[in-house]
Amino acid sequence: MDYPDFMDASEKWTVTRIRNRKGKGKIVSLTAYDYATARLVDEAGIHLIIVGDSLGMTVLGYESTIPVTMDDMRHHTAAVMRGVKRALVVADMPFLSFQVSVEQAVDNAGRLIKEAGADAVKIEGGAFRAPVVRALVENGIPVMGHIGLTPQSVRAMGGYKVQGRSEEDAQRLKEDAAALEEAGIFSLVLEGIPAGLAAGITSAISIPTIGIGAGPDCDGQVLVIHDLLGMSGDFQPRFVKRYANLGDDMRLAFEAYRREVEDGTFPGEEHCY
Ligand code: KIV
Repeated sequence: MDYPDFMDASEKWTVTRIRNRKGKGKIVSLTAYDYATARLVDEAGIHLIIVGDSLGMTVLGYESTIPVTMDDMRHHTAAVMRGVKRALVVADMPFLSFQVSVEQAVDNAGRLIKEAGADAVKIEGGAFRAPVVRALVENGIPVMGHIGLTPQSVRAMGGYKVQGRSEEDAQRLKEDAAALEEAGIFSLVLEGIPAGLAAGITSAISIPTIGIGAGPDCDGQVLVIHDLLGMSGDFQPRFVKRYANLGDDMRLAFEAYRREVEDGTFPGEEHCY
């Protein structure tokens, strides 16, 4: 198999390699939730796979990420791990798996590492999450931070709204990034914030930022894979670029199959024993 020339096929992307890539080249990330997709993403040379709790919406059909459970995350992370050879795999900590107590956060993050095989975990929230980050890192669990538009707080934010537009909010996000870096995260997702603010945070911290709806100056980019593939129906926010229209292609394939079974074209002679 040929690998993209930016990638040494023999080397797994570790948290150290991701952290050290800052300033040397962009970090390319996608979400994935199952074995088959993760294998293709890995073969395409994507550096970092996030098993996002967005699976609540993309795969499980919920209206938000709130109902996603630890068992959901463990199940999907384990499937992704079976498809991946090189990408770093980060498992999302779902709503209320890390908020109740530091002890519970360590226990749940440990399950994602120990039982599902994830390389690292991601938690949403700012400076107030520093004690949790510190406890995880001290226990050998690499942590990715996530600030800005944090979907688990959709109710508190009053919807999926761009964050950090006011001077005060922007300042708070800068302080959040610094506090999380200080607590030990190895990289930071910046979601749904103005491009200028993301650029400022990116240059102010020494760990890589991964942007989604945060402009071009982050150290890397991530997209939800269903959005990139055109499988999210009418949902197409401004920050998404569709690289394929698999939703349409799949529907056409299913319709063709239905027609051929109904009119007796399939199975043909060549499909019979
Ligand atoms: O849940 C998710 O998919 C995420 C990524 C977009 C970073 O948090």
